Amino acid sequence: MKVDVLLGLQWGDEGKGKVVDVLTPRYDVVARFQGGPNAGHTLEFDGKKYVLRSIPSGIFQSGQINIIGNGVVLDPILFREEAEALEASGVDIHKVLKISRKAHLILPTHRLLDAANERAKGGAKIGTTGKGIGPTYTDKVSRNGVRVGDTELSDFASRYGKAKEAHVARLRTLGMELPDDFAATESKWLDAVKYLHTYELIDSEHYINHLLAEGKTVLCEGAQGTMLDVDFGSYPFVTSSNTICAGACSGLGVAPNKIGEVYGIFKAYCTRVGSGPFPTELFDETGKRIRDLGHEYGAVTGRERRCGWIDLVALRYAIMLNGVTQLIMMKSDVLDGFDTIKAAVAYKVNGVETRDFPYSIEEAAHVEPVYAEMPGWRTDMTAMRGEDEFPCEFTDYIAFIERELGVPVTIVSIGPDRCQTILRHNHK
Ligand code: GDP
Ligand code: IMO
Ligand code: MG
Repeated sequence: MKVDVLLGLQWGDEGKGKVVDVLTPRYDVVARFQGGPNAGHTLEFDGKKYVLRSIPSGIFQSGQINIIGNGVVLDPILFREEAEALEASGVDIHKVLKISRKAHLILPTHRLLDAANERAKGGAKIGTTGKGIGPTYTDKVSRNGVRVGDTELSDFASRYGKAKEAHVARLRTLGMELPDDFAATESKWLDAVKYLHTYELIDSEHYINHLLAEGKTVLCEGAQGTMLDVDFGSYPFVTSSNTICAGACSGLGVAPNKIGEVYGIFKAYCTRVGSGPFPTELFDETGKRIRDLGHEYGAVTGRERRCGWIDLVALRYAIMLNGVTQLIMMKSDVLDGFDTIKAAVAYKVNGVETRDFPYSIEEAAHVEPVYAEMPGWRTDMTAMRGEDEFPCEFTDYIAFIERELGVPVTIVSIGPDRCQTILRHNHK
């Protein structure tokens, strides 16, 4: 059997959580393969709203196994908060949630290092979520990390102590001491590590490959988005993991020839949170209108998301990197009242037009979007139940995007609720 992958094609917050929840009934297993509690994946159904950070978005459907893969970085304190809130709302997650022993732990000192690194960067700060993501992946790659499986070993205390000592020394060089309440945070963290042991810790690479051999189906859930990928995103204003499809292979131990469908998810416009270049960003009333209508505020940090028109140059690049086989368009309803819709079809780089994504999109690289303009549909689509109800201007907008990107749009989302999801006729 193959594994299907669902991932973001923009700068995150495309609506991954909502669609994973909708697609979950087709699968036996849902697995997160990278990122950590920097993610905020929102689901809405039965009049309730949930935000998931480390737990896969398949958790609310019945029967599926949900896996936190080896490529994820896990903060025991935040995980416990998230898990206990789910349990309190009646979801029996202990039965279905499994955690990879090879996932790396976010230590309390990683969060302090994240803050100290940002402070040291001053005006060039990345605008991270402050969850310790960068320092934890840095330790993983520099071979100093502490893994979930280490907490089962007799020398865990010494492994933790060594890592903490190195962090304290590094913090000092950045002019930061441990805060007064650190001992309390540390003991909460150690308690939360014990709580992790109330879940089944697994060798997830074996586990997933055995399930595949038994004919089970797997959906991999990405976090962040392609433009935040550490190799291909708008570096250095990126996160610290591979958010692209290849990340599902390394983040779960699944071979490349096991990848089946790749669902690429994008908003009908574009947003970004944190610093870094964003060629189609709108600083005017239209940008503000999109933010207000789309409620574009971070699910984790509450920060205002920067808003702009859809960027087809960046999307083409993302489709190429991920091998996207199906596109999913989100938040189409946010544009319901606009007279005119714009889409960047090319960039002018130093005055020369290109459809290819350039090395740098920073201001100094003189990148200017070239827009196509289309009439808006000016129709409330939020209660529609099938694509035959779509206004013709909207159908034209989808056809335009498919032509520009060369991949079919198989799902369209017209509101935050589970039921506001339209599967198109060409859906496989
Ligand atoms: P994720 O990180 O990719 O899972 O996305 P987020 O949950 O951070 O952000 C997406 C936001 O848009 C959430 O508040 C969702 O409830 C909301 N949302 C998802 N799909 C739609 C849609 O089609 N229309 C509208 N208006 N909101 C949506
Ligand atoms: P989901 O999964 C949007 C951004 C941060 C910052 C940069 C680095 O909900 O789509 P980090 O804390 O990862 O070191 O921050 O990446 N960022 C996200 N932006 N959605 C996310 O996740 C993000 N996770 C990180 O704002 O610019
Ligand atoms: Mg999000």
